[in-house]
Amino acid sequence: MQTIQIRLAEIIEALSKALDLTEGQPPGHCIRACFIGTHIGREIGMPDGELQELYYTLLLKDLGCSSNAARICELYLADDLSFKRDFKLVDGSLGQVLRFVLGHTGVQAGLAERFRSILNIVQNGGEIVTGLIRTRCQRGAEIARQMRFSESVADGVLNLDEHWNGGGKPLGIAGDSVPLFSRIALLSQVADIFQMSNGPDAAIAEVAKRAGSWFDPALAAAFARVAARPGFWAALRSDDLEAIVLESEPGRQAIMATEDYLDDIAAAFARVIDAKSPYTSGHSDRVALFTDLIAEEMGIDEGGRRFLRRAALLHDIGKLGVSNSVLDKPGKLDDEEWMAMKRHAEFSEMILSHIGAFSDVAKIGGAHHERLDGKGYPRGLTAEEIPMEVRIVSTADVFDALTADRPYRAAMPISRAFAILREGAGQSHDPICIEALERALRKTPLEVTVAARAAA
Ligand SMILES: [Fe+2]
Ligand SMILES: [Fe+2]
Repeated sequence: MQTIQIRLAEIIEALSKALDLTEGQPPGHCIRACFIGTHIGREIGMPDGELQELYYTLLLKDLGCSSNAARICELYLADDLSFKRDFKLVDGSLGQVLRFVLGHTGVQAGLAERFRSILNIVQNGGEIVTGLIRTRCQRGAEIARQMRFSESVADGVLNLDEHWNGGGKPLGIAGDSVPLFSRIALLSQVADIFQMSNGPDAAIAEVAKRAGSWFDPALAAAFARVAARPGFWAALRSDDLEAIVLESEPGRQAIMATEDYLDDIAAAFARVIDAKSPYTSGHSDRVALFTDLIAEEMGIDEGGRRFLRRAALLHDIGKLGVSNSVLDKPGKLDDEEWMAMKRHAEFSEMILSHIGAFSDVAKIGGAHHERLDGKGYPRGLTAEEIPMEVRIVSTADVFDALTADRPYRAAMPISRAFAILREGAGQSHDPICIEALERALRKTPLEVTVAARAAA
């Protein structure tokens, strides 16, 4: 197996920034939580091997976060990004919860919808939140396993929202039954959210206030000691934090990624991306399949095909930063919403360009909505500026968009999709790619394949 010189921590750190986008947190939240949590781990004398697992649990704690975004949006008729951010500041007391609900339910919706939403929350609030958290945690743990992390890491992600006093969700387990990694991750998450919104003193006070209820008192005490150390807050708030966290990966040896491992990471992250909206379920996987069919038909070698498959899996990673109120809107987007939607391509490029191993993939992520006639976005590139790799992925992308359900229309048959593609050939997409896909599909009974994948 080929070994490449890329540290796993570097990749996971960069991907954690995509998770911050989905959570609506200020950029770097997962990295800061990692810094806080590993300090607590060291403070309580955790051995190196465990510290390394804790480190990855902290970076990946929000892996399941995209999976309940659509549901939050539908239930609360609100922008899921601001909902998630503000929800984390609520401590569970009735007054705070009601203020939050009234402040966040259907801010842009009509009175009748708002009334129904509030009624639904009052009647089913607990169940709804438990369901949301269960989905989020289970999905996150599964994806952690797919990324080859240990059961301890998966378990840490799974139980992130359980509280020390049993008042957490979804299981309501208490005390030592809550895995240590989850206890540290929850505390670190809250500490960062409060220090970002109201400063270090607010974080210290909030952790002390929730000690014994949300948090393990021993960990709250360890945090208080860590927080009193000179330089702790300055490092946490410094511009170099990313490098500091990368350099401080616990364990005697940093974990290195292989090419096969990178494929697994891309595939696992595609699930995070696709879980964001019911309409994108399976999209990244299918775009990877169509991309590979085109590439094979064009005689591209295995190395090139592997690169293209990764690019296809990650092309829409920027959608994590777009609210579901836009992604899932059943009607036409207004100007502001359309601007928000278009930004996903820039977000994709920005996220991927920070990952050394995926920096070539970043260009495809940024350009997959460009058109040969210069009418695409975000840059309006012209044909000469759009390389073949981009043309292949964007053809696969639009083919899947046409043949899958969309919020504004039902899926169309493959023959109709090709008629549309051929009509726009040379203006929107490359005729060579369209023909290659058509030839490949003639050889493959794809109506069956696509239906089977969609049902899976
Ligand atoms: Fe896209
Ligand atoms: Fe796409």
